[in-house]
Amino acid sequence: MKNILVTGGAGFIGSNFVHHMLAKYPEYNIVVYDKLTYAGNLDNLLPVKDDPRYAFVQGDICDAAQVKNAVEQHDVDTIVNFAAETHVDRSIMDPDAFIQTDVYGTYVLLEVAKELGVARYHQISTDEVYGHIPEGHSSVETDPLEPRSPYAASKAAGDMMVDAYFITYGLPVTISRGSNNIGPYQYPEKVVPLFATNAMEGLPLPIYGDGMQKRDYQYVIDHCEGIDAVLHHGQLGEAYNVGTGNEIDNLTMVQTLLDELGASADLIRHVEDRAGHDRRYSLNVDKLKSLGWVSRHTNEEAIRKTVRWYADNEWWWSKIKSGEFKEYYQKQYGERLALAN
Ligand code: NAD
Ligand code: DAU
Repeated sequence: MKNILVTGGAGFIGSNFVHHMLAKYPEYNIVVYDKLTYAGNLDNLLPVKDDPRYAFVQGDICDAAQVKNAVEQHDVDTIVNFAAETHVDRSIMDPDAFIQTDVYGTYVLLEVAKELGVARYHQISTDEVYGHIPEGHSSVETDPLEPRSPYAASKAAGDMMVDAYFITYGLPVTISRGSNNIGPYQYPEKVVPLFATNAMEGLPLPIYGDGMQKRDYQYVIDHCEGIDAVLHHGQLGEAYNVGTGNEIDNLTMVQTLLDELGASADLIRHVEDRAGHDRRYSLNVDKLKSLGWVSRHTNEEAIRKTVRWYADNEWWWSKIKSGEFKEYYQKQYGERLALAN
């Protein structure tokens, strides 16, 4: 591994992965290939912009000619695919871009990897492909995929296509399935950065339904280290879960967040639930641990550290919470908040 194409590297997890890899491996070169959708942000890559081992290409993973060109020009031997439409609520409003990028885009990358003989293809996937998980079970990698939202279904289709390229063509692939990531550079549509920034602005925190849904909030760098472990020690054709192995309910998450900020619980509003809302995700992460990886932050530590980053980096999020974001916010929350008690 020497020249890595990081698709979606201007987004939240992708940019953290770029920082992690460049800091840890002086001999690697990284090309970020990103369409710069509303979620892509070159501010996330400012700390590496002058690093000679880093290059940026603006491009769509659905454009085969452009992907091929980037792979050839930069002599890419490894593709790590973070590029995706990622927000469940947006997938409920309008699934089209999810099918395009998360399904067709994945297929395009696999085709280019096959045609050009790329040495390794790694797919970034999610615990949402397993669907709602009843109490008493934690998903293992061999569990059936039972996605329930348009986003989760598009990611599950991507995983299946990756498996198909391994089985049919022998493409050297791996998959990692992460739980909810939080940390620096996450677009404030996702619950933790939305609530942290809303609380700092004195705005309401719209909790869907009763707030007893459970998620495993992991610190993004733990996830990046997990991907790194799979890239270096994972077995071809295998999937690996990445998370803390514990989950908390959303009311506990919001109370921790408010406590870290010293803000009032009066900001909480219970609003109309998300359609088809999965009550619980839970990952068994033993397979990844067997590669020597450990998760270094609990759910609570991850939330507190993330909230502190947002408190210290208003320059980053204040310009995002305008324009496109405001339009989306009104569409998603306007009526919900007006009807909330
Ligand atoms: P994000 O929304 O912050 O970033 C996505 C990036 O992909 C953006 O930079 C965007 O510009 C780019 N992109 C979108 N469509 C593209 C296209 N057609 N061509 C090229 N680039 C495109 O997402 P994230 O939260 O960093 O998630 C990254 C990956 O990790 C996704 O595959 C997601 O499904 C997966 N994942 C996310 C989480 C999470 O909690 N955020 C958890 C598990 C897995
Ligand atoms: O589990 C991994 C997934 O985590 C990733 O694959 C997705 O890309 C990522 O967006 C995230 O999905 P979630 O739907 O779990 O994350 P979100 O931050 O949108 O919501 C987390 C929980 O908080 C969920 O139970 C819904 C709830 N929520 C969310 C928002 C945005 C609210 O109660 N109110 C909100 O306003």
